[in-house]
Amino acid sequence: MTAASFDFTSVLRPGLPPAAPKWSGLAKFNFTGGNNDAEQLPLDALMAAAASVLAREGRTLATYGLESGPLGYLPLRRFLVEKLKRTAGIACTAEEILVTSGSLQALDLVNGALLASGDTVLIEQESYQGSLNRLTRLGVNALGIPLDRDGMRVEAAAAALADLKRRGIHAKYIYTIPTVQNPTATILPEQRRVELLKLSQEYEVPIFEDDCYADLIWDGRRPPAIYAMSKRGGVIHIGSFSKSIAPALRVGYIVAPWEILSRILPLKTDAGSGALEQMVLGEFCARHFADHVPKLTRGLRAKVETLMEALAEQFGTAAEFEDPKGGIFLWVKLPDAVDIHKLAQAALAAGVAINPGPEWSTDKAYSRSRMRLCFASPSHEAIRQGVAVLADVCRREFGVPVRSANVEQRARA
Ligand SMILES: Cc1ncc(COP(=O)(O)O)c(C=O)c1O
Repeated sequence: MTAASFDFTSVLRPGLPPAAPKWSGLAKFNFTGGNNDAEQLPLDALMAAAASVLAREGRTLATYGLESGPLGYLPLRRFLVEKLKRTAGIACTAEEILVTSGSLQALDLVNGALLASGDTVLIEQESYQGSLNRLTRLGVNALGIPLDRDGMRVEAAAAALADLKRRGIHAKYIYTIPTVQNPTATILPEQRRVELLKLSQEYEVPIFEDDCYADLIWDGRRPPAIYAMSKRGGVIHIGSFSKSIAPALRVGYIVAPWEILSRILPLKTDAGSGALEQMVLGEFCARHFADHVPKLTRGLRAKVETLMEALAEQFGTAAEFEDPKGGIFLWVKLPDAVDIHKLAQAALAAGVAINPGPEWSTDKAYSRSRMRLCFASPSHEAIRQGVAVLADVCRREFGVPVRSANVEQRARA
C-alpha cells in the first residue's frame, strides 16, 4: 500500500482550511515572518542554562507540569513577575500568569474563552496576520480601526463603539498591539492608553493587549502597559519570548486576573507547554535577560538602518516609510501602480520573499501597494542585495522605481 492509496476526502470535517503546501525551503533573501537574528542568539548562555537547570532539577521532568502545576514552570513565572513590573509597570503575581506554547496559543486560548461565530471585535486596521486569520476562521467580524503615527486612532475606536451600540452590538474585545505595533511599528502614547481604557469602561468592552515586541525599543523607553494602567482589571495581556530570545522555543504567556484566567486555563488541554524550554528560559532570563535585550536591540537598530539606506538607494522616493522606534519590521508604501501581491510573486521567483500588505490589514484597498519587511533575520549583505533585486523586479513589473542607486533605469520590456 502506498501512502496515497487511502482517500480521506469523504471523512474530512467540513470547513477545514485549504491543504498546506509542502515546505520548499526559505527564500535566498527572506524578509518575511517574525524571525529573529541568528547571530544575536545568546547560545553559550542558553547552553550553560540548560546544563545547570537539568543538573539541578532534571528529574522533575518525570512529572507532567514539572512540580509547578498547570500554569507553567514557576521560576519562569517568577521572572516574569519581576520583569513585567520593571519594564511594563505591571503588578501581578505568579498565579496570574499562564505560560503558553508561544503567544499564538495565548491568542487561541483567549479567543476560545471569549469569542463565538458572529461576534464583533475591534482591531487595528493594520494588524498581525495570525490574529486576523484566527478571527476570520472563527467567523468573527473584525472591525478595523485606522492608525496614525501614534498607533490606534482612539477617536475612531470611540466612533465605532458608538455605532455598534446604536446597532445593538456589544463588541467582545478591543485587540491592540500598542507597544511597537505589527506591522506599523507605532507606539501608543500614554494619553491614548488612558483614553482607550475610558472607552473600555464606558462600553464595557475588555482590552486584549498583545505586547510581544515591547522589549525591542531602541532607547528602551516605553509607556506603561495598558494592563498596568487599568484600575478595573478589564485587560488581558499577552507576551512572548519569541522576539526577545528565539521564536522556535515556542514560549509565550498570558497575564490576566484569576477570574478570567481560571476560565481560560481549562481550555489549555495539552497538559502543559514544553518543559525543557521553560526551564532553560527560567534559568537564562533570571541572570541574562536584562543584559541580552539592549545588545539585541542595538543589532536590530543597525539592521533597520541598513534596510532604510538600501531602500532609499534602490527605490528613492518610491518607497515611503517611517523610521521605526523599535521592533523587527518596516512597513513600506510603494507607488499606487504597484500591485503588491503580483510583486510578491515575481520577487519570490527571483529569490526575494516579502509579506504583502493586504494580509496584514482589514482594508485591502489601503494596503494594496504596501509590504512588510522583516529586517531581523537577513544579514546586512542580504538586506542590501535583496532590496536591489526587489527594486529590479518592481521596475520590470511596474516601471518603478525609475532611479536606482542614483542612476536612471529603463523598465525592461
Ligand atoms: C503581534 C503578534 N502576536 C503574536 C505573535 C505570535 O508569536 P509567538 O507565538 O511566536 O509568540 C506574533 C508573531 O509574529 C505577533 O507578531
